[in-house]
Amino acid sequence: MAVQRILRMGDARLFQVSSPVTSSDIPNFASVIEDMIETMNDADGAGLAAPQIGIMKRIVIFGVEHNPRYPDAESVPFTILINPLITPLNEEIEYGWEGCLSVPGMRGLVARHANIRYSGLNEKGEQIDRTVSGFHARVVQHECDHLDGILYPLRITDMRNFGFEEELAAQPLDCPPS
Ligand code: NI
Repeated sequence: MAVQRILRMGDARLFQVSSPVTSSDIPNFASVIEDMIETMNDADGAGLAAPQIGIMKRIVIFGVEHNPRYPDAESVPFTILINPLITPLNEEIEYGWEGCLSVPGMRGLVARHANIRYSGLNEKGEQIDRTVSGFHARVVQHECDHLDGILYPLRITDMRNFGFEEELAAQPLDCPPS
């Protein structure tokens, strides 16, 4: 178990599609998941996807409780999610500012589905099935995008809403486009 180096944007692996984990293979990823947890906590991240530490498998972890990187965020239960599937529940879209441990120091305004259902397996191979909204839904969509090789800057529709977090904090732009 160890904190792993987080790949940064520019590393071609972050743009690859990761492969599923077969149920019988889940126990073999226990140490990978431990590494992911240590790495996410070390970086104060809200979530981490396996490809961010160079493991091209469909595993994400996330969870938020008083995260200094997201001081105003609602809490999200700590979750290990394998082979996730996301289904938007309606057409409602919300804009919100996102960051990513693979794009350090930056923030961007990204549109996400406001209400989703997601499912997958936990580290014991048990089924997870949740209906969520808001920040929880955003975190899940962001992390699962990593499994398809999508980093959030690829989803920014107006690049003026992408910048260094220190500059953005000096002139908050939390008025999303309508
Ligand atoms: Ni990310």
